[in-house]
Order: sequence, then structure tokens, then C-alpha cells
Amino acid sequence: MVNIAVLGYGTVGSGVVKVLTTNQEKIDKKAGTPIRVKYVLDLRDFPGDPIQEKIVHDFDVILKDPEVKVVVEVMGGLKPAYEFTKAALEAGKSVCTSNKELVAEHGAEFLDLARERNVNYLFEASCGGGIPVIRTLNSSLTAEDIDEVSGILNGTTNYILTEMSEKGSDFDSALKEAQELGYAERNPEADVEGHDACRKIAILSSLAFGHTVKYQDIHTEGITKISHNDIVFAKKFDMSVKLLASAYKYRDGSGKKDYYAMVAPFLVRHGHPLFNVNGVFNAVFVHGNMLGDSMFYGSGAGSLPTASAVVGDVVDAVKHLSRTLFVFWDSKELKLSDNGSAKRPFFIRVPADKKEEASSFFNASEIAESDEIKEETALITEIMTEDEFEKKASEAGYVLSRIRVNQ
Ligand code: HSE
Repeated sequence: MVNIAVLGYGTVGSGVVKVLTTNQEKIDKKAGTPIRVKYVLDLRDFPGDPIQEKIVHDFDVILKDPEVKVVVEVMGGLKPAYEFTKAALEAGKSVCTSNKELVAEHGAEFLDLARERNVNYLFEASCGGGIPVIRTLNSSLTAEDIDEVSGILNGTTNYILTEMSEKGSDFDSALKEAQELGYAERNPEADVEGHDACRKIAILSSLAFGHTVKYQDIHTEGITKISHNDIVFAKKFDMSVKLLASAYKYRDGSGKKDYYAMVAPFLVRHGHPLFNVNGVFNAVFVHGNMLGDSMFYGSGAGSLPTASAVVGDVVDAVKHLSRTLFVFWDSKELKLSDNGSAKRPFFIRVPADKKEEASSFFNASEIAESDEIKEETALITEIMTEDEFEKKASEAGYVLSRIRVNQ
């Protein structure tokens, strides 16, 4: 039998206990040994909940118990999760986590520490909720030179954008629903301003490219400026607004590699596989030089999908109690190129009386009008660099909003 401890009995922690209880027989068979929760660390008590007898308030109880071989860190945030994770790994315990903030900031450091102590630091649940994308990058795609990882990596914002588009809901009520469904972060700013997706793409790109992509270097825009009018006009072009997180490498003729990463709302065309990724679902695209395109799809947030990914890691940790599974991610920093040189078309809304002028100035490829919003016109510009677009938009002076268009 292997004993484990769960740090944090919130949305994910309670999900972990539920997954282990509901699927106990199957999980034990797959792990080759029974897995039992010995302790749950939380500041609170849970009278009446069967978990109460396992609740401890002092992390030292867990740290000093040699029977605990695996620690599940699902507290979120950096403090005290950093100290607890470090101490657990140093004590020779494997750590499984859903904490993307901590993994993005200290992933390479913890992987080194785990390797030194012959244990594992596993974080499948940190990106894409229940989608098995990290294990896929670490084991199934090891034959690939990966040149792109991108997709929809935040369930809350995808839920909000879907509700705004399908039901005409306003931003605040859609966010409230996402919170009630257990999708949102405690601080909703992390979701809606793109910080959560930024941490996730930092982790995925570090795994794809092998060196540390610092989340602080990733240009990040959220969805708070997306308006009802943007959504109405996007539909006129048969496109949908999605918060995309992407990282890719570009090789020029001389073989020099440039790396780019960004989180921002994009318009996605009908027919593109991401167009139909709605609600809390996430999807991750991976392009490899041999494989070509592949896409992974599933529930991106929520207690049980995320907990299922955590428990999958626990089973892996139990199966490899004194052997570190190699992860291709070191602490060397990967320098990102300036996004100003990235080329793409842009969606813009302009006052209706600027339609002709804007169409010629931005060399528009498509124009849309709406019976509902007669005072505005929307258009898709020709392909240009980010820097060129910013210069032109500021020169024009009448652009009401702009959203990048995914190619
Ligand atoms: N708040 C996150 C999301 C939870 O909405 O995707 C899963 O990481």
C-alpha cells in the first residue's frame, strides 16, 4: 500500500479525494498497489465530512511521516506551496500538482530537485485541465522536433466568450456562472486578463522547446475589452472570438531559430478546428516536424476533470517510486523574439462614415455591416506586421477596436 497526502481541500483537492474513492478498485489495480489518502492538509475543519478524520493543520506531520510517499499539492499560489513542495521533494517524496503558477515559476528547479532525490515532480493537471497533453509531450512525442504548441488553454474565458456569443450574455453574469461551476480562479483577474493561460503556455512551450520560457516575457492580453459589438461583427465574418495562447519557433533561410509566444484574443474562422471548441472545453494544437498537426481536446477546468489528471500523476508516481521519469525541460532561459515582427490580418471596427477611407487605408480583404449596429462597420485588414498595424491604426485615429485574426 502507498500512502499519500493532499495539500488543500478546495475545488481540486476535494475532487482528488472523490476520484480516488469513486474509482478506488480500478486505480489500485492500475497502480499495482492500493493508494490511500492518509492526510489532508487544510486550514479549515470539515465537520460531518468523512475527510475530517484525516485533516491536519500542520504540514510537518506530513513531512515527517515516512509512510507518505506522494504529496498532492493542490493549494494553488506560490506561498506556501513553494516551501511545501521543496521540503517534500527534499524529503524524498514525489509531488503531483495542478498549480500552474508554481510550475511556470519553479518547474525546472523542482524537476532538478526531483532528479537529485530519485523522485518525481508531475504536473499534468497544470495545463488543459483533464486533457493529457503534458504526458503526451513528455512521452508520446519524444520523436518529434516540435515547432508549435498553441490553443485554448483557459476554460473560464472560453465559457464566457461562448455564453456571450451563443446567448448574448453579458460579461459579468457569464463570469459569475463560471465561478459557480468551479472553473474560475479565486482571483478572476487571473483568468480574464490572460495570466492563467500565460502560465500554461509558458509550461507547455518549456516542455516543447526544452528550455525555460519565462511567463514574464510572454505578451499577454485578456478578454475584458471584448464587447458585444466585436462578437456581433465577428459572426458576420463567420468567425468566433477565442483567447489563444501560442508559442512557435520560426526558422529563417539560414537555419536561425526565432521563438515567439503570445496570449491574446483572436478571431478564428469557421472550419478551423478551434472554431467549435466551446464552453469550458480546451484544445491544444501541437505541430511536430514528422507528425504534422495534432490536436488534443477535453474539459479544461472543473473539479473532477482536473482531479482525474492529478490522480493519473499519482498513479504514475506510485509506479515509479524510486525512479525519476525524465522530463525535457532545463533551467536555461529561452529568449523570445519581439512580437512586433509577427505578420497577420487584423479585424477592426470603425465608425460607419469611415468605411470607404478605412477600407482603402487598410487594404481590407472583407467588410461587414450589421442591421443591429448601424453606426459601425467592421473590416479585415491585409496581412501586416504588428508594428505596421499599430502605426497605421494610430495614424488613422478612428479605429474603435482591433482583434488579431488567426491564419
Ligand atoms: N481557471 C482555470 C481555467 C482552471 O478556467 O481554465 C483550470 O486551470
